[in-house]
Amino acid sequence: MQRTQQVTTLTAGAIGKDGYRHYMEKELHEHPLVIGQTLQRMVDPATRKVVLPELPFSLTEVPRAVITACGSAFYAGMVGRYWLEEIARLPVDIDVASELRYRNPPLDKHSLGLLISQSGETADTLAALRALRQSAVHILSILNVEHSTMARESDAMLGTVAGPEISVASTKAFTAQLTVLACLSIAIARARGQLDPLREEELVSALLDLPTRAADALAQQDAVRAMARVVAEARDVLYLGRGSLFPVAMEGALKLKEISYIHAEAYAAGEMKHGPISLIDSSVPIVASAPYTPLFDKTLSNLQEAKARGGRLLVFTDTKGAERVSAIAEQMVVLPHVHDFVTPIVQVIPVQMLAYEVAILKGTDVDQPRNLAKSVTVE
Ligand code: M6R
Repeated sequence: MQRTQQVTTLTAGAIGKDGYRHYMEKELHEHPLVIGQTLQRMVDPATRKVVLPELPFSLTEVPRAVITACGSAFYAGMVGRYWLEEIARLPVDIDVASELRYRNPPLDKHSLGLLISQSGETADTLAALRALRQSAVHILSILNVEHSTMARESDAMLGTVAGPEISVASTKAFTAQLTVLACLSIAIARARGQLDPLREEELVSALLDLPTRAADALAQQDAVRAMARVVAEARDVLYLGRGSLFPVAMEGALKLKEISYIHAEAYAAGEMKHGPISLIDSSVPIVASAPYTPLFDKTLSNLQEAKARGGRLLVFTDTKGAERVSAIAEQMVVLPHVHDFVTPIVQVIPVQMLAYEVAILKGTDVDQPRNLAKSVTVE
């Protein structure tokens, strides 16, 4: 196929390491910038309203959403599911693209097929897009590469403004995807009559606060490094979280596996007693996301159970949760307390950073981990 030539407008700064040791470290430090840039496209700060680009279908009519993606983009979609269900009261089905492409789920016309991808070229996600197309649903993709195959094959696209992501381990694209999903959830909630103007203002204000809060999270690098020294000694690590922090735990475990080659599993904290609790001893550190959300007490009680069985707790919390967490945690990273809605976006930053710091201690090839490609274009 003949394609038109695209001349890049990227500067050396955008594709260099900018003084950082690795692309991953540079990209971690770009979280505040990319969240801010992405919000600029979707939010009117004067009215504190979400303003999406015009879509070729009405969000009012959408009866349900099917979210699909791979890897980190899938975990972003899992956070999106919580928001769409909670804020927009929209029924959501979600599956990894490698499964969805062969599932052939029955779908109402007017459903929303929501695809998420940094590259816009991932083979399974593209195949899932084409499979969804057979059901005549509206295809909306959240993409970082705006001239990608998925962009061309979608009915509409919402761009994450993350710039080029070069490290194989995705970082800034993930928070940009979450930012778009948060705005989309607000827009769908309003279209479905589920959101009054005051509540929208409250949620948008929380979003607008994010670049500052993301910078506060990055400032915790020393505390994260101290935690990394414990994780780097382990052979297996458990990641725990509840609600929208469960996908954050999954993202943390994936990142650790990818770049430090340490085995890690993520569980919804309440699932521990149904099996994984038998793994706990002092050689398996537990990395938990436990900021002060409505599920804080539940998570804390799961962590107390783990501690009682000899578990070593490394906990990401916030200023409101810190006092109670400090009674049981071996180490803590304390982040600013933010609105529940945006908590996963702030909490995931040091969780990704932990994997980076562990990889540094292990001496692995951080930006190009073995056996992995940035974009998986084959099945
Ligand atoms: O380009 P995509 O967002 O479609 O890629 C999806 C996954 O391959 C990707 O997120 C992968 O899991 C990353 N290496 C995670 O850090």
